Amino acid sequence: MNLTLRVWRQKDRAAKGRMVTYRVPDVSPDMSFLEVLDVLNERLTEAGEEPVAFDHDCREGICGACGMVINGVAHGPQKLTTACQLHMRHFEDGDTIDVEPWRARAFPVVKDLVVDRGAFDRIIQAGGYISAPTGSAPDAHATPVPKPAADAAFEAAACIGCGACVAACPNGSGMLFTAAKVAHLGALPQGQPERAQRAKAMLAAHDEEGFGGCTNAGECTAVCPKGIPLTVIGTLNRDVLGAAVRGR
Ligand code: SF4
Ligand code: FES
Repeated sequence: MNLTLRVWRQKDRAAKGRMVTYRVPDVSPDMSFLEVLDVLNERLTEAGEEPVAFDHDCREGICGACGMVINGVAHGPQKLTTACQLHMRHFEDGDTIDVEPWRARAFPVVKDLVVDRGAFDRIIQAGGYISAPTGSAPDAHATPVPKPAADAAFEAAACIGCGACVAACPNGSGMLFTAAKVAHLGALPQGQPERAQRAKAMLAAHDEEGFGGCTNAGECTAVCPKGIPLTVIGTLNRDVLGAAVRGR
């Protein structure tokens, strides 16, 4: 395949960015999107030019490091797929593909396609600890977890913190991410003692970081590579309301 990539280039946080066009010939349909960027970067490096900066780690759809807007869609055109798992067979020979970083006030661009997602870490940090005894591992059946609770927790825990939900939301809201983290622990018996204050503190941190509010647009769940459902936001809202009613 012969492709044309139009890639967002931005030297640093303060610099003005722009789209730069690159021709990338001889792309295998079996390559992942990140491998195409690797090929481009090899050629740029050989030509003495600055390679395109982009985040990646596992390249298996599990770490959440990769993230870019491909042809206007966070993580690209394939549903339930991270950019690192997106393969070129989903594009046509001769395509022109736009590649941009997440665009959200709370995720400032660091360089090219790399954004600072530290705001997510600070939301997690605001959640604090759970009152679990330390020491040796408890017996597996010491705290029975009902199957529906385990399933709900597992579904929410699938969030990999990639930030696509924020990039897709017209309000730049991080509610799907925050709610997934709140719902994950809130579903389990071990998460009950601090459940109310955890939800309140994480939501407050979300707002302080400059994320927008949720207006139920649903764009977040449409691009989420892990299929986190909107219902987790309802769970977060119920927990925060419960905390307010109980004055905690
Ligand atoms: S909710 Fe989905 S889109 Fe948002 S950070 Fe988690 S995995 Fe990524
Ligand atoms: S590089 Fe880990 S999810 Fe894409």
